[in-house]
Amino acid sequence: MKRAIISDVHANLPALEAALEDIATQGADEIIFLGDAVGYGPNWLEVTQMLAEHAPKAVMGNHDCAVINFPFGFNEVAAVVAEWTKQEINQSEEGERTLQYLNKLPDALEEGEILYVHASPIDSMMVYIDKDTDDDTLKKNFDDIERLAFVGHSHKPLFWEEEEGIPTHCLSPSTEDLKPEHKYMINVGSVGQPREGGDSRACYVILHDANKVEYRKVEYNVQRHIDALNNSTINEWLQGQEKWVEKVHESETKDPFISKLDFAGYLAHRIEMGK
Ligand SMILES: [Fe+2]
Repeated sequence: MKRAIISDVHANLPALEAALEDIATQGADEIIFLGDAVGYGPNWLEVTQMLAEHAPKAVMGNHDCAVINFPFGFNEVAAVVAEWTKQEINQSEEGERTLQYLNKLPDALEEGEILYVHASPIDSMMVYIDKDTDDDTLKKNFDDIERLAFVGHSHKPLFWEEEEGIPTHCLSPSTEDLKPEHKYMINVGSVGQPREGGDSRACYVILHDANKVEYRKVEYNVQRHIDALNNSTINEWLQGQEKWVEKVHESETKDPFISKLDFAGYLAHRIEMGK
């Protein structure tokens, strides 16, 4: 059986379309989505509809949660973007469909020895697992894994293997064999906003039965997404939001786009640079 596991689409339609096309060429039997359908990008409607159709197995991400509740634990910049998305959805006639989709997403999915969750096994929404994560936190996470856990959230492909309680990690995973007696925690990277430093390609994973993980990188029309950001309402919306303008100033950012309240430019730049 082949499973495609995708995460962190962040309302980037060209990236999702390209990933789905690539998945079709791989003959995957099913697609599992690890959360953050929305946030950052403008195409929340198309993306949530496409995910509902193609990836019926899915979990909730912190940006999905922020839209149906409030941006809890976000930095000022992420909170502004989440609030914009929330307003856009709430003000749109078609927003109800997106809210229904987001509201139904569970915190985690368990299928036999496989766990699917957005952030980490010990905290489905917020705790990042990165190359610098301390041993104690890693141990707690592996204690919550029967054999395989697939996560997203950091937008960075990262592959953890645990043998007899000792974890090791691989920073640039490609095709990795899985030993039946070992445990694994596998970050599948991000489709819509990769943060790999210089690589803007959409990233996802194919799980071959339960014995091989294959990372796939897919080129997509980045300019089309940048155009969509530039044509979006984010900058115009922000100018009229005193509370959020204040928050941006409080963040004391040195980012030239953010200082000028050019959030479209900021998001486009990050997408282009893969960071
Ligand atoms: Fe995300």
